[in-house]
Amino acid sequence: MSEPTTTPAARFTLDSAFAVGSVNPRLYGSFVEHMGRCVYTGIYEPGHPAADADGLRQDVLELVRELGVTTVRYPGGNFVSGYRWEDSVGPREERPARLDLAWRSTETNEFGLGEFMDFCAKTGTEPMMAVNLGTRGVAEAAQLLEYCNHPGGTELSDRRIAHGAKEPYGIKMWCLGNEMDGPWQIGHKTAEEYGRLAVETARAMRMIDPGLELVACGSSGSGIATFASWEATVLEAAYDEVDYVSLHAYYEETDGDRDSFLASAVDMEHFIESVVATCDHVRARLKATKRINLSFDEWNVWYMSRSEAATPPDWDKAPRLLEDNYSVTDAVVLGSMLIALLRHADRVTSASLAQLVNVIAPVMTEPGGPAWRQTTFFPFAQASAYGRGRVLRVEVDSPTYPTARFGDVPLLHATAVTDDETGDITVFAVNRSQTDTLPLEIDLRGFDARTVAEHLVLADSDPEATNTADRPDRVTPHAATGTTLTDGVLHAELEPLSWNMIRLTRRQN
Ligand code: AHR
Repeated sequence: MSEPTTTPAARFTLDSAFAVGSVNPRLYGSFVEHMGRCVYTGIYEPGHPAADADGLRQDVLELVRELGVTTVRYPGGNFVSGYRWEDSVGPREERPARLDLAWRSTETNEFGLGEFMDFCAKTGTEPMMAVNLGTRGVAEAAQLLEYCNHPGGTELSDRRIAHGAKEPYGIKMWCLGNEMDGPWQIGHKTAEEYGRLAVETARAMRMIDPGLELVACGSSGSGIATFASWEATVLEAAYDEVDYVSLHAYYEETDGDRDSFLASAVDMEHFIESVVATCDHVRARLKATKRINLSFDEWNVWYMSRSEAATPPDWDKAPRLLEDNYSVTDAVVLGSMLIALLRHADRVTSASLAQLVNVIAPVMTEPGGPAWRQTTFFPFAQASAYGRGRVLRVEVDSPTYPTARFGDVPLLHATAVTDDETGDITVFAVNRSQTDTLPLEIDLRGFDARTVAEHLVLADSDPEATNTADRPDRVTPHAATGTTLTDGVLHAELEPLSWNMIRLTRRQN
């Protein structure tokens, strides 16, 4: 392999006075769907040597905590559009097995709502529950909410108590269905149909618990023909009753066009800005004062082309579905997607990396075997650990490179977060060049003395390198050398095709 060459420097200035907004911890959410092996042999595997008394794999719980996940969306995804929540509660031996039409699998209901709440308690995560607006409607959503959140004294709330949960679950975040715009969705609807159903469901749910935060389905992707008009129609109907509109986006490398793949966040940022514009357009039309925020509740790298080629037999239990093995390149793209979310933290106040375990996931397991971190685990864990506080405005002056999909794109993609209590500043940066080192200069205008605490890099001489059960630590972040901060200017060299986290702490005199 030839030695990397160096491009002209990329630069930006950080000024404490210019901030995008505060990071909502819910930006670091994830997603557990009853699909493939996310639940069964993923988070739940009774009889596994690491399983606790409730069948939860403690090796996985530990990795989920290390990942720094804040919220967990559940139980789907496409699965939720056929979900009968009643099947998933009560004594296990009485729970029915059902066909899961969305994934052509058999759902045993061995793991259900109570087990999920147990998982949330043990991982310190907040549940984000979805209701079925595909095959079901207002009544079942209200009943599920009553079961979950009403203290007691009614048949449904007393049923929860009888099932062992004396205290109400107090679930705040609720998704009003999933991807209802998609023709693949069970109970797919037009925007008008869904808008009516969403507003009526929201009203009924708020009658039970006015403090809920409700997410209306936006488009399942910005490429779908109804994109933007869907959001506008749904919000015209439901604006007063909902708090968020959802966004979903998945990216993959196609036709060997890695340069465009590395620029996926250009599309993601455009998507976010288009949804913000649509929400604010409806706000203006309705003369409303409140703003609708964005819940980017499915995002990731997903090799859909590979998933389509590997279809397991119908009606298996926990089949291997969407078990993408992520490379260093994928991790750099995922890091860039995190940067895109942070750069819009004023409006993207909730997000869920889809999914958490085994299914397009940062954590992998083998049945009866180990659990390990995929390459994509690292940017997420670092961002969740240090990307808390105020996002500073970053306007990069960067050399560009040509891409087939997005035209000329800056080689540098970056954001910075400051923790006003500790005074720490963390810079997250991606070098999109496949061949060149990118020198970076940051002018820390308006910040007093800081020192470089660490500069961690995810990059590899083999951009295809992955972690596997046999080599779980093949790819891990390493420390960069030569990053300096002199007279308020930071100098760093970003390796080709790399994700970087640079932490600056207040200098102790
Ligand atoms: O995350 C996998 C699937 O992608 C979800 O079930 C669905 O909502 C989306 O299309």
